[in-house]
Amino acid sequence: MNVNNKKIILAVSASIAAYKTPELVRLLVKAGAEVQVLMTPAAADFVTPLSLATVSKKEVFANVSNHAQWNNHVHLGRWADVLLIAPCSANTLAKMANGLCDNIVQAVYLSATCPVLVAPAMDDDMWHHPATKANLATIQAYGNKVIAPEHGELASGIVGMGRMADPVNILAYLNTFFEPAKAVQNHFKRALITAGPTYEKLDPVRFIGNYSTGKMGIAFARVLAEQGTQVDLVLGPTSEQVAIPGVEVHPVESAQEMYDKCLSLYDKADIAIMTAAVADFRPVTKAGEKIKKKEGDEHMLLELVKNPDILATLGSLKKEQILVGFALETNNELENAKKKLQKKNADYIVLNSLNDSGAGFGQETNKVSIISAQHVEELPLQSKYEVAQSVIKYLISQ
Ligand code: CTP
Repeated sequence: MNVNNKKIILAVSASIAAYKTPELVRLLVKAGAEVQVLMTPAAADFVTPLSLATVSKKEVFANVSNHAQWNNHVHLGRWADVLLIAPCSANTLAKMANGLCDNIVQAVYLSATCPVLVAPAMDDDMWHHPATKANLATIQAYGNKVIAPEHGELASGIVGMGRMADPVNILAYLNTFFEPAKAVQNHFKRALITAGPTYEKLDPVRFIGNYSTGKMGIAFARVLAEQGTQVDLVLGPTSEQVAIPGVEVHPVESAQEMYDKCLSLYDKADIAIMTAAVADFRPVTKAGEKIKKKEGDEHMLLELVKNPDILATLGSLKKEQILVGFALETNNELENAKKKLQKKNADYIVLNSLNDSGAGFGQETNKVSIISAQHVEELPLQSKYEVAQSVIKYLISQ
């Protein structure tokens, strides 16, 4: 099941992210959904009703009454299979939490008998404000579901949390939402995820690291949390920020710190997904002061010692958990990935190949295969969010 033949109300509130809604409607209509657009009066400052009416092929309602005619909000809320509020501004969120009813979006929200999904969009500081957190918790307690915003450049020019989820990812969320209830949270109540690089200190100002951004692991955390799983995200040093309801971030720097944190959390987890690019070796000594070059030095030798292998250790301690490792290979991909599966006692290895364009470090997309002892499942090139969704869907189908 997916959005095909579904009746969707898209309620647009006043946020700069409203400029993405014609694209969202286009994607939904293309996927076979019937879309009725509503907007708050102020949303028309950001996107025109004409654009949205054109792509949805339906009149857009921006007021409770139009041309002395009442727009039946009760009927609308009963007609829809889902009410999607995207973008949901901080103001609309606050009104939802408090049951205000001063525009058509609020009237339909309060009378909706269908499920309600919100895709918030706001500035980083607004997203982190305790009032916003409290309002989010309140609407979640009402049973509304939150499609968490993404990290990136915001209208203010600040880079942070608060960008509305990408329309492609909202469509992917909805497709999963309409899947028959093989509820992810019944399979995985709690998840442990590693993400990002590790930094291995050489001296107070230098380290050995790698190019990992943590995006793939953050996508797994987002997908699982959205489905009701409680997520522990052990995150190496990255510029990505994570403020996703249901995700507890445990920042670490070195492989040893990541190892210690994972061991303390593993017992509680039903699934562990190891996406981190962990440094295999660390310097034998960490200089207390900056290492200086000496007159005449042409070479420098660094002595490294092996780091503990987190995935292999969790494999050796495995009880009921599903254990998923990642592998990034440049040659003999399948063979090497299968060896890793066995050696580290993982249930699955998700293989990405640097030979595939669009896959790997720093990219927004990824192309992976899921390898188990019995089978190799190849997935197409997708956004990292979609890859995470597909992998989770595959795991619960097994
Ligand atoms: N991994 C880990 N701890 C390490 C090294 C790797 O948990 N010290 C995990 C990674 O998070 C990933 C998987 O093991 O899930 C595979 O990592 P990779 O570096 O590709 O494999 P290695 O076993 O280190 O093999 P090689 O570097 O030789 O390819």
